[in-house]
Amino acid sequence: MTLFRGTFLDTPDNPFTGGSLRVATDAALVVQDGVIVARGPFAEIRAAHPAEHIVDLSDGLVLPGFVDTHVHFPQIRAVGGMGMPLLEWLDKYALPEEARMADAAYASSVADEFVRGLAAAGTTSALVFGAHYASAVDTLFAAASRVGLRITSGLVVSDRIIRDDLLTTPQRAYDESLALASRWHGVGRNRYAVTPRFSLSCTDELLASCQTVLEEIPGALFTSHLNENEAEIATVAELFAGSDYVSTYERHGLVDHRSVFAHNVHPTDVELKLLGQSGATVAHCPTSNAVLGSGLFPLGRHLDHGVRVALGSDVGAGTGFSLLKEGLQAYFCQQLLGDHGHALSSAHLLHLATSAGAEALGLSDVGDLSVGKRFDAQLLRPVEGSPLAVGIEHAADAEDTLARVFTLGTPADIRAVWIDGQLLDDSSGKV
Ligand code: GUN
Ligand code: ZN
Repeated sequence: MTLFRGTFLDTPDNPFTGGSLRVATDAALVVQDGVIVARGPFAEIRAAHPAEHIVDLSDGLVLPGFVDTHVHFPQIRAVGGMGMPLLEWLDKYALPEEARMADAAYASSVADEFVRGLAAAGTTSALVFGAHYASAVDTLFAAASRVGLRITSGLVVSDRIIRDDLLTTPQRAYDESLALASRWHGVGRNRYAVTPRFSLSCTDELLASCQTVLEEIPGALFTSHLNENEAEIATVAELFAGSDYVSTYERHGLVDHRSVFAHNVHPTDVELKLLGQSGATVAHCPTSNAVLGSGLFPLGRHLDHGVRVALGSDVGAGTGFSLLKEGLQAYFCQQLLGDHGHALSSAHLLHLATSAGAEALGLSDVGDLSVGKRFDAQLLRPVEGSPLAVGIEHAADAEDTLARVFTLGTPADIRAVWIDGQLLDDSSGKV
């Protein structure tokens, strides 16, 4: 048993439905076998557990580990592409790098950089877009297992339009996906996600094979892209005889509570209704939407239709692993929408980056720091004298402190990360 002492901030009650930020100052959590078994004021908890080891985190803020619901492992070396809309960016920038994943040794070194980058940014769970090569997906699961991250990922599949060396067939996609799932799904903290790239690059036959794979792997998730860019949406409509984008997945049984769709910047009301009724989640990827000029995310319309929304970094169109930065950009985006935007507080941002992501990924035992949850957490302590340290010192209250954290915080301020109560040690020197 370990007693963690400090100031804990989390969002067990959804701020989008009347909840607010939970603040526990000079508090303690008791963690046994990775699970929080008690919490309360430090003095009380200490009196009840006089002999337990104390980890004193009073010089920082403890937040739940972040949950990144959309991030591409093979694109970490392709962050920074500027001046291109989605389809051109894929052709000229992202997919040439993804083709390099054919070399398993290359993929393995990228996978190491990737999992370290996630952990260093305070991300403890992620739904990861894998690679088009099964051997590269193996390297990702292996690297995640070494660091101890909670990763859900899978083979990315496409069978048309994008470059030839990334294409597969429905049969091969089926065979390789099931083989990967048999090696990794439910092993340690790994889970499998059925992952067609987007319906633009997938025939109906391939999407049908995805449905079969999803049915054959109990507990698997489904993820893909949706309604990101106007030219992409027009092409999908042409390819699928005028269907809307959501229907291209829905007709194959791929839209339900296990589904996480990235972007959805330009949905119709009919699509939002279907997403809301199905229990699917949209991964909002605000820095990516800005970099590629995809548009401003209509959060209010999603909430009006009861669509679940969480945050994704979308590395490498997104600009880095930090969900602090994504949270700030999500805030900017709603401000820029003016009367059509949904005002966001720092509690909303923390919810989107933690509990909303955990719900999206079906991880009911992480996302906040309540009794019964697993201790997936991060310690944030700014560099002395830095703008963030000054900001925190002069904050009016905890919500204001958190607003300054989202505004000024970076991975350099994340000093330690725990999963299941265990301190991650990935030899990066930071976590
Ligand atoms: N749509 C299909 N593939 C991708 C990708 O890699 N990144 C983004 N942002 N959108 C996509
Ligand atoms: Zn993406």
